[in-house]
Amino acid sequence: MRMKKNKKKARSGGRASRGGRSKSPCPILSPEEADGMRAAGRLACEILDVVAEMIGPGVTTAAVDQAVDEMTRSAGATSAPYGYVNHGTPPFPGHCCTSVNDVVCHGIPDEGRALREGDIVNVDVTPLLNGWHGDSSRTFMIGDVSPVARRLVKDTWHAMWLGIRTVKDGSRVGDIGHAIQTFAEAQGYEVVREFTGHGTGRVFHTPPSILHYGTPGTGMHLRAGMTFTIEPMINLGHWKTDILDDGWTAVTVDGKLSAQWEHTILVTEDGVEVLTRSQDE
Ligand code: MF3
Ligand code: CO
Ligand code: CO
Repeated sequence: MRMKKNKKKARSGGRASRGGRSKSPCPILSPEEADGMRAAGRLACEILDVVAEMIGPGVTTAAVDQAVDEMTRSAGATSAPYGYVNHGTPPFPGHCCTSVNDVVCHGIPDEGRALREGDIVNVDVTPLLNGWHGDSSRTFMIGDVSPVARRLVKDTWHAMWLGIRTVKDGSRVGDIGHAIQTFAEAQGYEVVREFTGHGTGRVFHTPPSILHYGTPGTGMHLRAGMTFTIEPMINLGHWKTDILDDGWTAVTVDGKLSAQWEHTILVTEDGVEVLTRSQDE
């Protein structure tokens, strides 16, 4: 989710998340509600499994979008991204986001964009199933990609999991960002600041904002029954992004590669349940 334009907040590192004192806290789901989120999460995973099978050189991002739309409908769900509006943006025109190479996130599926050998592309899906959102993305490598790109994709996946592993009842939002940032920067990358993970459930994007950088022991306390996303975007070059004139596509300012992975998770007493996890992950 895009940070609101508030320079102080965006720059304040681990202090940015004040969800603990927020008027709109992250809801604690009942066991039945958690089952609703489990089903939505499972569907997001299944949609991405379908994408994994069809994606490759010569496939357009519009064809990926169509496959996502078909799979989503056939499961009795709708695509939350379609027509989505956020802080005055135009309605999002796709059923998923397809973000190629230097596109950080929110890339718009395009008939004119056939994927080529060597591309990396993040596909981000959010089925809305029986009132619940399952939000997940993976970065796919098209054919043979450069060693640098492969390393970025793998390390971004690893960074996401390091963040996930910090979470349990009583842990704090800043612990997640710290784990991700420490690893990413040790590998020589930079972590995108303008977009964050977010609470999700009956509403697509809710508090808390899950920053992918920060200070351990700070921010909102996480409690069993909360559901939110962890979705680091990690850049080979500078962390800053620009938004293209379409109002959505976020690109790196220096044209260098960016990768992203996203899971929706449920906090449990002693850890997490990763609702969008695939069987072979
Ligand atoms: N799925 C994205 C996220 O992870 C949000 C996409 S909104 C869209 O939060 F409108 F761009 F699709
Ligand atoms: Co998300
Ligand atoms: Co997403």
